[in-house]
Amino acid sequence: MAQSKLWTAAPEWAVYPLGLLPAVDLFVRAFSNALGADPLRVLENGLGEWALRFLILGLAVTPLLRFGRINLVKYRRAFGLVAFIYVVLHLSVYLALDKQFFWSEIGKDIIKRPYITIGMAAFLMLVPLAATSNRFSIRKLGSMGWRKLHRLVYPAVLAGALHYLLLVKAWPPEPIIYLAIVVALLAVRRIKPARRARQAA
Ligand code: HEM
Repeated sequence: MAQSKLWTAAPEWAVYPLGLLPAVDLFVRAFSNALGADPLRVLENGLGEWALRFLILGLAVTPLLRFGRINLVKYRRAFGLVAFIYVVLHLSVYLALDKQFFWSEIGKDIIKRPYITIGMAAFLMLVPLAATSNRFSIRKLGSMGWRKLHRLVYPAVLAGALHYLLLVKAWPPEPIIYLAIVVALLAVRRIKPARRARQAA
């Protein structure tokens, strides 16, 4: 009981300023020339990685509750929205700083570079989720409809992790680890409590 209270002691809104601290840090360092030789890459990649981390955190909420008795349910929406903010910032850096709104280049990238195609697909899947992450939409769509729509988060996170794996030229461990975590979190959701109970018996 005391342990579960500890996990929910902070208010939901605290996730936003805390979660966005790395973005502030990245932008401050970018604008003060403290991101090394290729600041654009570091900024773009840093935002992408934080997007993936928060998406994974959102995906981990149910397994943490079921298997670890850690109740972060009240923060789930904030985790998702912070992830979406990172995706929007990541995409904005790509469009404005990397491609400087050179739309024909951007169009070519989306068609010809599979990692951009998949990243874009992930972004498009996240848009309706972010737009309906409020009480009004839950009422409007009904609980079942809202839940069905929000299942889009699973292919969206998978696409985000695949996007990372596809953009790297060699085989560094990070994207493989992120993808393995996403696949494990998706797989674990399919384990029904009854089956676990049978296994334990
Ligand atoms: C859910 C959506 C997305 C996630 C989770 C995501 C995540 C990531 C991650 C983790 C990285 C690599 C970070 C690193 O190397 O340390 C990355 C890089 C990148 N992403 Fe995304 N991304 C998403 C959507 C997009 C979109 C929509 C675009 C553009 C249309 C995009 C363009 C890029 C580019 C250009 C890079 C840098 C590649 C390079 O270093 O040359 N991403 N992203």
